[in-house]
Amino acid sequence: MKKILNKTLINQKVKNIGESISKKFIGKKPIFIGVLKGSFIFTADLLRSIKIDCEVEFIKVQSYKGTQSTGNVKIISDIKTNLKGRHIIVVEDIIDSGKTIKFLISEFKKKSVKSISIATFLMKSNQQKFDFPIDYIGFEIKQGFVVGYGLDYNQKYRNLDSVYVLESKN
Ligand code: IMP
Ligand code: MG
Repeated sequence: MKKILNKTLINQKVKNIGESISKKFIGKKPIFIGVLKGSFIFTADLLRSIKIDCEVEFIKVQSYKGTQSTGNVKIISDIKTNLKGRHIIVVEDIIDSGKTIKFLISEFKKKSVKSISIATFLMKSNQQKFDFPIDYIGFEIKQGFVVGYGLDYNQKYRNLDSVYVLESKN
């Protein structure tokens, strides 16, 4: 495995994102919605860099098996809090094809939220354009499967405090 992002770099970036969000959402009491499991560490660190009143919820979705996207996304565990009229910030670990985030945006739109913003720790740089803005991006990375800082390969490596590219799939 090759390290591509170390913890000092990660911590600084997460702090910067937290500061931007804190400025933008002052007085709006946003709800951060962490997308499990991958974003649990990013969500926890991001929340600690937020200096305004906020709430946090988690939603659990599934779309991947190993390093292959299954293409269909489903909600495994939903949010019970009423989101109507609320500013929500969806917190993702990584956006690759965009299928997961696209699905989540359409689900949250049905709940009459006041605004939807997206904060993703990683973004795989691919040519395709999304028809929605990605408001906060930690790092853009090249293609390749990455693990660590919450991201897994078959549930392994979430505990690593840096991000690595998986070279061998064992
Ligand atoms: P998308 O729907 O293709 O954008 O994929 C999004 C989801 O797939 C993310 O929330 C991750 O859980 C998972 N995923 C995509 N790429 C990677 C990766 O390189 N490492 C670990 N998980 C990934
Ligand atoms: Mg995952």
